[in-house]
Amino acid sequence: MNASAKDLASLLPPGFTLGVATSAFQIEGALDEDGRGPSGWDVFAAKPGSIVEDHSPAVSCDHYHRMPEDVALMKALGIDSYRFSLSWSRIQPGGSGPVNPAGLDFYARLIDLLLANGISPMATLYHWDTPLPLDEAGGWMNRDTAYRLGDFAAIAAAAFGDRVTRWVTVNEPATVTTNGYALGMHAPGEALMLKSLPSVHHQLLGHGLALQALRAAKVQGEIGITNVYSPMVPATANPLDAVSAGLMDVAQNRLYADPVLLGKYPDVIRAATFFSSSFSPSSEDMELISQPLDFYGLNYYMPTRVGAGPGEGAVPPGMAEAMGDDLSGTPGAPFHIAPFPDTETTAYGWPVKPEYMSVALAELADRYPDLPPVYITEGGASFEDVVVQCVGSDRRMVPDERRLRYLADHIGTALEATRPGGAAEAVDLRGYYVWSFMDNFEWSAGYKQPFGLVHVDFDTQVRTPKASYYWLQEVLAARNAAPAAQPAGGQQDGAPAAGQQDADGQNGGVADVGEPSPAG
Ligand code: BGC
Repeated sequence: MNASAKDLASLLPPGFTLGVATSAFQIEGALDEDGRGPSGWDVFAAKPGSIVEDHSPAVSCDHYHRMPEDVALMKALGIDSYRFSLSWSRIQPGGSGPVNPAGLDFYARLIDLLLANGISPMATLYHWDTPLPLDEAGGWMNRDTAYRLGDFAAIAAAAFGDRVTRWVTVNEPATVTTNGYALGMHAPGEALMLKSLPSVHHQLLGHGLALQALRAAKVQGEIGITNVYSPMVPATANPLDAVSAGLMDVAQNRLYADPVLLGKYPDVIRAATFFSSSFSPSSEDMELISQPLDFYGLNYYMPTRVGAGPGEGAVPPGMAEAMGDDLSGTPGAPFHIAPFPDTETTAYGWPVKPEYMSVALAELADRYPDLPPVYITEGGASFEDVVVQCVGSDRRMVPDERRLRYLADHIGTALEATRPGGAAEAVDLRGYYVWSFMDNFEWSAGYKQPFGLVHVDFDTQVRTPKASYYWLQEVLAARNAAPAAQPAGGQQDGAPAAGQQDADGQNGGVADVGEPSPAG
């Protein structure tokens, strides 16, 4: 795939959304300000040894105080849409009960500024930062948390339902269960292994209740859920590896997608005898979970190569080091993740395999005949960036060619795959959001894994757009310079909602903001 901005722009179908993504806990800082309550992640991150080098999320990108500056950088980039998450603890500090007006006000200002700049808001209700009182009551192991998320959705809908273009109910429940409840690498730090299954069902139920609340409030925007999806590749032709890859596929992909898109858990899960009594999905629950969606959010980062037996470790190679942990050799593990031979890896050790983007989309189309339109709600890569200070000037550059190529290859592959005649032509692909807009607090890896289009100096808070930012800016400019074509369908970015939004053709925004250029 060619990384030329013009070539990629020529592949973009009319109406295709290009956006950037972040989440509240990873960028905002200001954890104790203006009435925000603590989240389970505040407590987990403060425990020595939980985060690499004990990095603290207390300030992070200081986005809470620098939001207008960050939106100005988005505007100058020229993106159609910004995906962010609402901090539940900022809006409803106790996870239930009273609402914090200052929390609502922060997101009202963000949303209004986005709209004034022609950028469509995509708001995620739950991106992992559970209010602490809910975590203390069992978090997602407790069914009540699902109802609390439904209530939170109603609060968000009342406040922003007239202005948000797209809603994501829950982000990557698979990661919350695997890292937070099965392995203990994320908040709330539980290592329950298979006993973590109720946390799957309760998150999906939370999705269903949130969806129901948004619909009841008649929000203007489209509604979906975001699941991560990783095609599973048997390590060798050994049939045991194929069985292992199939099990991983169930554990990481189907367990989360089937209930939402097919209304049932995978057979192997339903048949398993290890269900605890608190995990007994009723038909009412399954109906809530499988309500029709306006779109399906897909996070694609990489495929996973799976071998039978304990192997090297339970996490991707490189991840263990990145986390400063020795997770190698998991005695008794039924299968393991193996490296792809001769394959470039990111700083996390994740394999760079754009061709599997096409596989992921084709598998989704194949498995889910009624798949709604798809947004790729996250994709991106961490690489060790170098900030170059130019001699004799205060100009700074970040030549992140590998990230730029990762994005060009993945977006290009997704577009090719979903064209008529492509491997995933049945998928109605509507957009791609780059993870991430700026470097941020990468959960247990702290500030060690930068994914941003914009470099953040965490000592000075100076933002420096990287080469990948300027490349994406060029893609958007080239697309906008092409003769206008009629969009295919769906809710368009910047389209008026309830008479509140400024109308905007793609990137016809109006606010007067600074324009970074490669010359800095
Ligand atoms: C999550 C993000 C995370 C990214 C990179 C996704 O799993 O939604 O919060 O930073 O991947 O690890």
